[in-house]
Amino acid sequence: MANVFVTQHIGTAGVQKLRQAGHEVTYRDKTEPMTAAELQTAVRPADGLVCLLTDRLDTAVLDAAPNLKMIANVAVGYDNIDVAAATERGILVSNTPDVLTEATADHAFALLLALARRLPEADAFMRAGKYEKFEMFPPLLGLEVTGKTLGIVGLGRIGAAVARRGALGFGMQVLYTANGAKTAVEQALGAQKVSLPELLRQSDFVSINVPLTPETRHLFTLDTLRQMKPTACLINTARGPIVKEADLLQALREGIIWGAALDVFEAEPQMTPGLADYHERLVVAPHLGSATGETRQKMVETAVTNLLAGLSNQTPPNALNAAALGRE
Ligand code: GLV
Repeated sequence: MANVFVTQHIGTAGVQKLRQAGHEVTYRDKTEPMTAAELQTAVRPADGLVCLLTDRLDTAVLDAAPNLKMIANVAVGYDNIDVAAATERGILVSNTPDVLTEATADHAFALLLALARRLPEADAFMRAGKYEKFEMFPPLLGLEVTGKTLGIVGLGRIGAAVARRGALGFGMQVLYTANGAKTAVEQALGAQKVSLPELLRQSDFVSINVPLTPETRHLFTLDTLRQMKPTACLINTARGPIVKEADLLQALREGIIWGAALDVFEAEPQMTPGLADYHERLVVAPHLGSATGETRQKMVETAVTNLLAGLSNQTPPNALNAAALGRE
């Protein structure tokens, strides 16, 4: 029997499964994260941890948990966890890939379409009673999507799913950047691997799908945005700090790019001052990429499955550091 701490609300099904497996579960059924000090105190007795992307698991937290064997993050991104420090301490870390790929790609495309066709602006226009006449060239003219060029920055699982939607659903030409060799997507979708400057130069829609790492932090600054077409749109469903938000606001105000759709923010849940007041050609959502009922449930199940495996000395299906820990 292990001592498991669940840091935030994940619903009762996952907690029940942990308890049914015989573990002693402390469930903090709250929807806001703890402070760093609270987290350090709460993890002290834990052998296993289920946490969310808003829980920062740094060395101070890891050092406060001498018994910790496994951290199951309920997210695919794991920039909230110091995985290297966990590995040094012999702690397994897992994430929840695959189960959220399609929902997140759907959301990226929903944002792309909402931005291109100016749906939030149109919705506000209607509700304000401003629809007085049909016009051939209305103030809310949008951008054509079908047949345009879609640039995917980071062709991993989610990037490939966005690429599929663009190529197969909207006849878009797909350009992408990725580490390593060309992928099968290249053949299947007629996608083309290019350098980032080339992608920025040619794309009508640029979708960010890289993880947040020291290399991708502030990958999009004014300098990057200036390399995009003035008619182009930026869609970020990855992590906020990949885009320098103050620079993006300036780029929107100065017409350096046409528009942006953001699901993630540099200092969530805050937005850079001024961004919320900018209404034209900016679509924002509160980090909802994977937020369908089905997908969120599957993420919890996946995290619980990972934790149960790790606590019974098996290799968790989605362990990030199993090899480094000699657990494969
Ligand atoms: C959400 O942002 C995730 O990483 O799962």
